[in-house]
Amino acid sequence: MNLEVHRAQRLTGTIRPPSDKSLTHRAYILAALAKTPSTVFEPLEGEDCRRTLKIVRALGSNANESPRKVTIEPSSLRLGPHELDCGNSGTTMRLMAGVLASEDGLRAVMRGDESLSRRPMNRIVEPLRRMGADIEGDTPPLKIVGSQLRGTSHQSPVASAQIKSCLLLAGLRAEGETWVTEPSPSRDHTERMLRALGVVVKSADGAVGVRGGQTWDGFNFHVPADVSSAAFFLCAAAAVPGSSLVLTGVGVNPTRTGVLDALAQAGATVALAPSRDEMGEPVADITVTGSEPLRPFDVSGALVPRLIDEVPVLAVLATQCQGTTKIRDAKELRVKESDRIESVAFNLAKMGAKVETFEDGLHVTGPTPLRGAVVDATGDHRIGMAFAVAGLLAEGRTTVTNADSIQTSYPNFQAHLDQLTGIG
Ligand code: S3P
Repeated sequence: MNLEVHRAQRLTGTIRPPSDKSLTHRAYILAALAKTPSTVFEPLEGEDCRRTLKIVRALGSNANESPRKVTIEPSSLRLGPHELDCGNSGTTMRLMAGVLASEDGLRAVMRGDESLSRRPMNRIVEPLRRMGADIEGDTPPLKIVGSQLRGTSHQSPVASAQIKSCLLLAGLRAEGETWVTEPSPSRDHTERMLRALGVVVKSADGAVGVRGGQTWDGFNFHVPADVSSAAFFLCAAAAVPGSSLVLTGVGVNPTRTGVLDALAQAGATVALAPSRDEMGEPVADITVTGSEPLRPFDVSGALVPRLIDEVPVLAVLATQCQGTTKIRDAKELRVKESDRIESVAFNLAKMGAKVETFEDGLHVTGPTPLRGAVVDATGDHRIGMAFAVAGLLAEGRTTVTNADSIQTSYPNFQAHLDQLTGIG
């Protein structure tokens, strides 16, 4: 699928962005492992979370889908052998691997699409093996024979919630305690949800730990909207003077809101009105108005994991800032759904931007009047949407090719784009 985008005069209106992808995955997994049924309200309907739900079903849970909610009745895990397709979803593969490897006697092969098949799995395989797991595959497919695991203490070289959550899920079903330390804090949804369910999650000196054998009851969870999806329109509105948007019901967990900090550095006008709390996750309505001129911003160190998925659209915003925006310490971008440093730099250069790449990031110097062009999403949802935003800022027409994958996290992206730019 291609996406055609024209320059926007301004963006106005109110939307609720789609539900949070990370939280929907976790809600399905924690519901499948609970003692009693759970209902997940407003789950993200995207392709990635569907993969997790399908695996939860294959493992024996009964999942009843009705409009805007899924009720999950857990059961003991079926031992298989299972052939499980994770599609494009790294979260499905990495989190579920922790569950499967810790179920004694379970046999499973987990596969992914072309993009996922290139992504590193040794980051979970190696610590799971140290817990006693029988698991193979530095890249997918992963071959797993489940067993009774024992706790470990893992020092992760990268800040990754997928590694941390994999090991915490495995650790909850292992003997003894499992601890994870990371270079700077990654998103802490798993910890918050577990604590809200009464599970003891310890933290000490930047490490998080769980004792195995803890159980929890089913729950009702209303999934907040995804700040990573909101980011596309936040950045678009910030860059188009005269814009004014309200994004409602957005999850604003501080481990996810680095994009708001970057926008503040740029001098954008963004305001939060807190509304509620969902299983330890703060929720707010976000208002943004178009500002001019924008300043360049610096992204490095502990800020990086707090906005890791928003770098593509922040790089697009940087083209409109007056000076050089520096994004470093972000080597992880090379092993996302695409090599996002390359895909961002290649497409931005095609639109006339000034970009310099590094092994761990990129510098973007603005302000640049972008030119409409044919750009390639390379099957990566966040690249597709970031360049739709670039199209809103560019002269003439922009065509984003290979954009089907937008479905994985933002099924109604086109509808929101049309509504906010006044086409709908
Ligand atoms: C996610 C964590 C991040 C993020 C991904 C979703 C999660 O990956 O990029 O989109 O749900 O835990 P890493 O934890 O590997 O950085």
